[in-house]
Amino acid sequence: MAVNNAMTADFLRSAYGGESMAHMRYLFWADLARKEGFPNIAKLFEAISHAERVHASNHFRELGGPTGDATVAAGGVFGVGKTVDNLQGAIDGELHEVKQMYPVYLNAAKYQSEPGAERSFHFALEAEKIHAVLFQQAQDAARSGKDLALAGVYICPVCGHTILDAAPDKCPVCGAAKAAYLKF
Ligand SMILES: [Fe+2]
Ligand SMILES: [Fe+2]
Repeated sequence: MAVNNAMTADFLRSAYGGESMAHMRYLFWADLARKEGFPNIAKLFEAISHAERVHASNHFRELGGPTGDATVAAGGVFGVGKTVDNLQGAIDGELHEVKQMYPVYLNAAKYQSEPGAERSFHFALEAEKIHAVLFQQAQDAARSGKDLALAGVYICPVCGHTILDAAPDKCPVCGAAKAAYLKF
């Protein structure tokens, strides 16, 4: 079902653009991390890349509407640095979403009575908070020349909720079952 309000539609398109770029950027930085000798940080990038794909898909679906062209303005982080620097880019991007972008988008969707968009923005906001923390942990490790210690990264396929080492019985954000989580 398409959204009814132009401002919420613009925010969905922009968030879709931002999440799509984050998805690709993290895959690229995962390859660099692996080459630098950080296989677990690479895994974290790949898992979170998938969470951003979940967000992009949710926004795209909620946007709905007729098929057609649009030019999208969306913020994105660019650069091909060392893993420590790429992680700083990742942290900055996530914190921008947590502190600036999604709270505004979420409240606009609420104000405009767009429950589908509101849900999609809420899911992304909650996941990005976790991503910022995990990327910070990864950067702390990389700064001391170590890889991140982890047994696996688990991603909720509905909302992108991200957790290390074991999936919860139920997703704390969307309620999806443990068995639904994807392991990286
Ligand atoms: Fe994220
Ligand atoms: Fe979830």
